Amino acid sequence: MRSKIAGIGYYVPKNVYTNFDLMKMMDTSDEWIQERTGIVERRYAHTTEETTATMGVEAAKIAIERAGITPQDIDFIVFATLSPDYYFPGCGVLLQRAMKMKEIGALDVRNQCSGFVYALSVADQFIKYKNILVVGSEKHSFGLDFSTRGRNVSVIFGDGAGAVVLQPTEDPNRGILSTHLHSDGESAEILAMYNPGTHANHWSSTELATFKKDAKMGEYFMSHEMIDNCQNFPTMDGPAVFKKAVVKFPEVIMEALKTNNYTPADIKMLIPHQANLRISQFVQQKLGLRDDQVYNNIQKYGNTTAASIPIALCEVYEAGKIKEGDLVCLAAFGSGFTWASALLRW
Ligand code: ACO
Repeated sequence: MRSKIAGIGYYVPKNVYTNFDLMKMMDTSDEWIQERTGIVERRYAHTTEETTATMGVEAAKIAIERAGITPQDIDFIVFATLSPDYYFPGCGVLLQRAMKMKEIGALDVRNQCSGFVYALSVADQFIKYKNILVVGSEKHSFGLDFSTRGRNVSVIFGDGAGAVVLQPTEDPNRGILSTHLHSDGESAEILAMYNPGTHANHWSSTELATFKKDAKMGEYFMSHEMIDNCQNFPTMDGPAVFKKAVVKFPEVIMEALKTNNYTPADIKMLIPHQANLRISQFVQQKLGLRDDQVYNNIQKYGNTTAASIPIALCEVYEAGKIKEGDLVCLAAFGSGFTWASALLRW
């Protein structure tokens, strides 16, 4: 018994922000952004009306309809995001409520850029269920530093959501062939958002010594000072991420191919997580893939983290670039570090 993608959908907000729009907020340039990342524009969710969960709902509606079922037929939810509506509870239950689903299990996955492939892998192991909804959604725009200080991170990310419905199949020529998940926590702080959190790394030992245990406890988690110092925004050592990504992407793709006795030439479509166009191009070159074997859409959406792969996969599907039986490879690398791949027959 395998699991197959029975329906797929995506949603991106209407608000388009070009590199020129960002130039009004910070010291950056269209040339710098395009040259380093390939990004031309990205979408930002409506400030008050759209959240990570509501965008997930929009993508899920399309995936569910394309699977020929209704929200009440879904019997398990796996929701991947790093930008949840609430610190807790997770977005899975918010989607369950919004879509008036049955009292089914709802699991949130927090694996950042590899979130969707991790979520797909979890769903693949849970395929005793009949209709699993797997969602990747991000509202990054609420958590970015749009001043010049945060420009190395903020120009990269965009908002959006993608979703698939996974169903069991006995067809030997379709479905997920294998998934491969990895992590290396040594570099956890290289690409991270530290606060709010339960660590106390941002306080000096002198400050810690002056704290009265019970009086200042909450300030370890979130304080005015933290906000004043912009410590509530993501931080990234870009060059370090780049170096590791260009090694781990090809490695985990080859792992998936070798496990199933295929070579890069057999791939109909590689959908790399849209981290950075330069990373995708490097991976393509390293594996000797043609342009028509790799799909990139970071130019118009930026890096949408857990949403990037399902959005790209859905665009590929809608454009008729993949047909039933085609070999499709999904691969991701991101914060943690975590990296992952999935090989499937469409
Ligand atoms: N606009 C203009 N200048 C900028 C910007 C910006 N938005 N951001 C940084 N700079 C400046 C820096 O201040 C620095 O200036 P300096 O030389 O005067 O000190 C200069 O540009 C170079 O900065 P670097 O960080 O060294 O720039 P780099 O060439 O490495 O490019 C980038 C940065 C694009 C982030 C690159 O390192 C990269 O692609 N890394 C991979 C990380 C990535 O893709 N992350 C995506 C999220 S993680 C994931 O999805 C896997």
